[in-house]
Amino acid sequence: MNDADSIPGAPRARLVVVISGRGRNLAALIAAIREGRIAADLVAVISNRADAPGLAIAAAAGVPTTVIPHVDFPDRAAFDAALASCLRACRPDIVALAGFMRILTEGFVREFEGRMLNVHPSLLPRHKGLNTHAAVLRAGDAEHGATVHFVSPQLDGGPAVIQGRFIVPAHDDVQQLAERVMDTVERKIYPQAVAWMARGELQLEQGVAVFRGRPLREPLTLDDLEEGFR
Ligand code: GAR
Repeated sequence: MNDADSIPGAPRARLVVVISGRGRNLAALIAAIREGRIAADLVAVISNRADAPGLAIAAAAGVPTTVIPHVDFPDRAAFDAALASCLRACRPDIVALAGFMRILTEGFVREFEGRMLNVHPSLLPRHKGLNTHAAVLRAGDAEHGATVHFVSPQLDGGPAVIQGRFIVPAHDDVQQLAERVMDTVERKIYPQAVAWMARGELQLEQGVAVFRGRPLREPLTLDDLEEGFR
């Protein structure tokens, strides 16, 4: 379904994207909304860093931005409370963490559980946390990729929705791998997952990702991408 197929007058999903950095995933989401592939309105972009280049991408697209610098808060709970209050005011149906480099408290996650997705640069459950590309090279992994998952209180541990993988080229360094993950996987799978969620085709039910009425036993793959997302 795209804009042309949507029911006239039907409310569109309200999307908020939370970033810390360059905003390439944000740019992919904005492009997909513009092209009518995601039936959602991007109502706000929030960053925990004032110098995140992604803020300029949002501003150029006319999306309101808010900066909540984590360094202004005494602890994690205080920052998360401020972020939660900002998000609440946006009334989001979908919260997309896109290169958001903060560990979230359980209370925060519980409030937005089922509405919050993350994209992580590895084939989860392999290589949770930071520096995933270096970890892949160190381990000599044959394959690498990225995963979109529902956010749960376990770091990078929530139910996976879709995963894209490729064979690790023999001579890639960390930087090349990072670019490859972004270009060949993340910029495709994240807009697709958000599009499914905006259409009501993807939910979290009792801790299980459900796609078109069926529990996902395995994450979807690049082969499941719809035409416009390939
Ligand atoms: C992406 O590769 C994303 O998966 C990763 O940071 C990059 C952000 O790029 N996120 C994480 O590592 C989260 N733990 P972007 O800001 O250009 O979208």
